[in-house]
Amino acid sequence: MLQTDHFIRFEKVGTVTGTDRGLLAEVESEQLRVDLVSDDVVRVKMSRGGVFDESPTFAVCVDPMAGPVEFALARDEERVTLTTSAMVVSLWLAPFRLDVHRTDGSAVVETAADEQGRYWAYATLNDTFTVRRRCRQEDAVFGLGEKSGRHNRKGRDFTMWNTDVLSPDAAGEFTAGKAEGDPRGDRTSVEFDPFYVTIPFFYHQTYPAGSMAASFMDNGYRGEYEFSAHDEYRVTFRGGQWTEYIFAGPDMPQILTRYTALTGRTQLPPLWSLGYHQCRWFDYTEDAVEALGRRHRDDEIPCDALWLDIDYMDGYRVFTWDTEKFPDAPGMLERLSDQGFKVITIIDPGVKWDPGYAVFDEGVERDVFCRTAGGDTYIGQVWPGNTAFPDFVTEEAREWWGGLNAKHVQSGIAGIWNDMNEPATGSIAPDGMRFGRGEFAHERYRNQYALLMAMGTTQGLQDAMPELRTFILSRAGFAGIQRYAANWMGDNLSRWDHLWLSIAMGSGFGVSGQAFVGADVGGFAGSSDPELFTRWMQYGVLTPFCRNHSMIGNVDQYAWAFGPVVEDIVRDAIRLRYRLMPYIYSAFVRASLTGEPVQRPMVFDHQYDGTVRDIDDQYLFGTDLLVAPVTEAGTTSRQVHLPDGDWYDWHSAELHRGRSFVVASTPMDRIPVYARGGAVIPMWETAPASTDGFHPDAIELHVFVPHSDGAHTSRLVEDDGLTTASVDGAAWRTTFTLTRSGSQVTVAAQVEGDGYPQFRREVFHLVVHGAQPTAVDLGDVSVAPGPQAGGATFVLPVAAEDFTATFHV
Ligand code: GLC
Repeated sequence: MLQTDHFIRFEKVGTVTGTDRGLLAEVESEQLRVDLVSDDVVRVKMSRGGVFDESPTFAVCVDPMAGPVEFALARDEERVTLTTSAMVVSLWLAPFRLDVHRTDGSAVVETAADEQGRYWAYATLNDTFTVRRRCRQEDAVFGLGEKSGRHNRKGRDFTMWNTDVLSPDAAGEFTAGKAEGDPRGDRTSVEFDPFYVTIPFFYHQTYPAGSMAASFMDNGYRGEYEFSAHDEYRVTFRGGQWTEYIFAGPDMPQILTRYTALTGRTQLPPLWSLGYHQCRWFDYTEDAVEALGRRHRDDEIPCDALWLDIDYMDGYRVFTWDTEKFPDAPGMLERLSDQGFKVITIIDPGVKWDPGYAVFDEGVERDVFCRTAGGDTYIGQVWPGNTAFPDFVTEEAREWWGGLNAKHVQSGIAGIWNDMNEPATGSIAPDGMRFGRGEFAHERYRNQYALLMAMGTTQGLQDAMPELRTFILSRAGFAGIQRYAANWMGDNLSRWDHLWLSIAMGSGFGVSGQAFVGADVGGFAGSSDPELFTRWMQYGVLTPFCRNHSMIGNVDQYAWAFGPVVEDIVRDAIRLRYRLMPYIYSAFVRASLTGEPVQRPMVFDHQYDGTVRDIDDQYLFGTDLLVAPVTEAGTTSRQVHLPDGDWYDWHSAELHRGRSFVVASTPMDRIPVYARGGAVIPMWETAPASTDGFHPDAIELHVFVPHSDGAHTSRLVEDDGLTTASVDGAAWRTTFTLTRSGSQVTVAAQVEGDGYPQFRREVFHLVVHGAQPTAVDLGDVSVAPGPQAGGATFVLPVAAEDFTATFHV
């Protein structure tokens, strides 16, 4: 961590003037600007050389000051305050301090003082700056996106620097000098830092009150977040300016909504991207890929997408095919498409340095590659050997790249897999790579490289195919990456601790705005084994992005690779994912509208329950399913914490009261899953081979009768799953309100939207859990139970219309 004791602290505040959004103050030789974004969000900016950087990164995608805000400015001898309905921002004048409190007096941020009583509101030295804030040892910290270790970040320090974790070249700097036995000295440990993605956004939870505040530093330079000290935290960036959004909270979902209003929300994904994905780094031929597709169909393993890693290319040249191995790629893509498979190919940013190769020549001609300080094309070492890197900071490079991707997709590819975009440069140091036609140093944009790559790719796809939703999977990223791409967690290991790591990491992503995430299921490096693979698949099918991926040279990790017993279990697991597709998809629609995660740490929905804050080996999948993966070999049972509410054991239908711990048995064919009492979980009746063209005539509504009186909301969104028409209303969006009052349970459905041409559904099958009603009243009509699903099923002949169904328990 950086030594900052010798930094120059800012202490002297000069003239303070009111502005239409807040205030402007002279602080030492710089300007401090405090702008109110809304009642509960404030932005703080400090100039450098008297000048403000008005667009520090590409993370914020809206004008933060577009909305109205009401506030009052007041001043006395000691301070100037800005007061809204939710918070008070205090600029203390002598010495300089900046604090934010809620109107009830509770702290949002408070400047820390050192042992000599000197305040560290802002200190700087040679472009680096640091801020220090008060906290308490027992507080908690969440967020920062893709970080290793426990999801409560308190007690540890983190670096923000997009890193190809398993590469000794890239990671060496971070493993060097670590004490013997320090897990952070080991790239494969579940404590290693930094990772591939940088999201400088975190929550600070006060103990025991449970309230949360948050901070987003709009800065792409290398940053350090230090939470290891007991009584303060420090945030330091090695360049750029102090531009910070401070969120008063106090609720985590509210903060996340505000944060994603600024940085964008997870795009509505195509439905097929929520299916099961089969990927492997392997030297496939065309026939082998087709055989792989056939095997999934023959073995009845539902699967939507087959992925091609670097070996499909001609000598690792992006946007080419190895025509010896793939003599008829268009034909292969068409035949796979006929069987309901989408194909996704890897596209790395590195373009082989190879005069005569069209993409390279075009890049040189258009002058869209990154340069060195001297003006050369920067060359790194990646798969193809010497490689040039598109300068995504320029619009020209993004446009060019977007066009190449669009052509590639139009040839029959469904989506794009962006890897090595930290960017990884192998054995060549990355620092020489400059951006903006040589204008900007590497540090300024490194962390945003993948964001800009995904931005260009998405734009290219949208320009060429405006009616289609896009799908990009990215390894690296920055705040805002959710607008363009899903993230996978990079090169994990086929190890139990890495299975666990992906739970906490997925949750970290989720509360940091990125809802579309998943780890390589089964593990990437090292060989999986039957038990680990089984447990990982059982859990992986209940994560937002579900892709089996492994490294070349490992044992096979296909669904059938570990024999028929494992295959049967795995098939059941994947089928469960497909049957839950309406529920999962509806959770994604919600993420695209509000920013809320699909994979949610317990603390997100239960932040005032002190028991849950450190639980990171279980999570909520959507709002209504609680998943407790098996994270160790030989596990026959595990402890599960059930938070507030009623919880139905998914497997046994047993009802548990929340705020309790239960011991769940974990036979090999299942992991613990619970459904929330009061939920209406929409499911497909059967698992199709893929989502392709699947528009069923019935959807099951699994109703979990709550133990006590109350009302619960659930959602179902039905649309074509492919086009952007849904966003403009071509969908049926149903809100279910389940109300229990004594022995009466009512499910009221309210439908909005204009519908879509492929809609085929004619009925809902109401499946009641926790009661055995003899009839359901649909309006005035009494419906008797039908034979489906063991008897407690009622066929409701309603398509896209409001209804009220009532029954007695
Ligand atoms: C990187 C990726 C991995 C991929 C491999 C070969 O290690 O993270 O997913 O399989 O490169 O392209």
